Amino acid sequence: MFKIVKDNIKSLREKCALVDMPLSKEDEKLILDMVEYLKKSQDDEYAEKHHIRSGVGLAAPQIGVQKRMFAVYYTIGEKTIQYALINPKIIQNSLRKVALSSGEGCLSVDDDHKGLVYRYDKVVIKAYDVLQHKDIVITARGYDAIVLQHEYDHLDGIIYYDRIDKNNPNKEIPNSYLI
Ligand code: NI
Repeated sequence: MFKIVKDNIKSLREKCALVDMPLSKEDEKLILDMVEYLKKSQDDEYAEKHHIRSGVGLAAPQIGVQKRMFAVYYTIGEKTIQYALINPKIIQNSLRKVALSSGEGCLSVDDDHKGLVYRYDKVVIKAYDVLQHKDIVITARGYDAIVLQHEYDHLDGIIYYDRIDKNNPNKEIPNSYLI
C-alpha cells in the first residue's frame, strides 16, 4: 500500500530523473505495484476499507519516487487500458485540443479545482512498457490522451490545475472540443 504524496509537498513540483535501463528489479516491482494500486482503488469495497480514492493513473512522484515512470489502468466498456510506462516521451501531438467538461481530478489533490484543462486531442508517446516487456509507441486520442498527458505532467512537476485559466476557468479556445 502506498502513501500518496499530496500537492503541498515540494517534491511533487520537481522534474523527475530518467529511469536507468535496463530496468532494475526494484523499479519493475514498483511500477507493477502501482498498476495493482490503481486496480484495487477501483474496487469500491477495497477503497472504502483502506480509505483510498479511486484513480485511473498514478505517477512515481505521487508515491515519493522522483523517477520518470507512471501507470494507468481503467476500463471503458469492454476495453481495458493499462500501461506501466518507463521514460515516456511525447513524440507527436495534434494542434487540436480537448478537455473534460467536468474538469480533472488527481489522487494528490484533495481540494476541488474547477475549470477546463485543455490537452492535446492526440498524442503519440514512445516508452518502455513493463506490462508488455518492450518499447512501444502509443497513439492516444480524447480521454486516453488526457489521462496520459495528466500523468506525464507529474514527471515534470506539473499539476492539472496549473493548466486552468485562473481568470476564466471555463474559457473556450479555438480548435478544441469538450468531452
Ligand atoms: Ni494526478
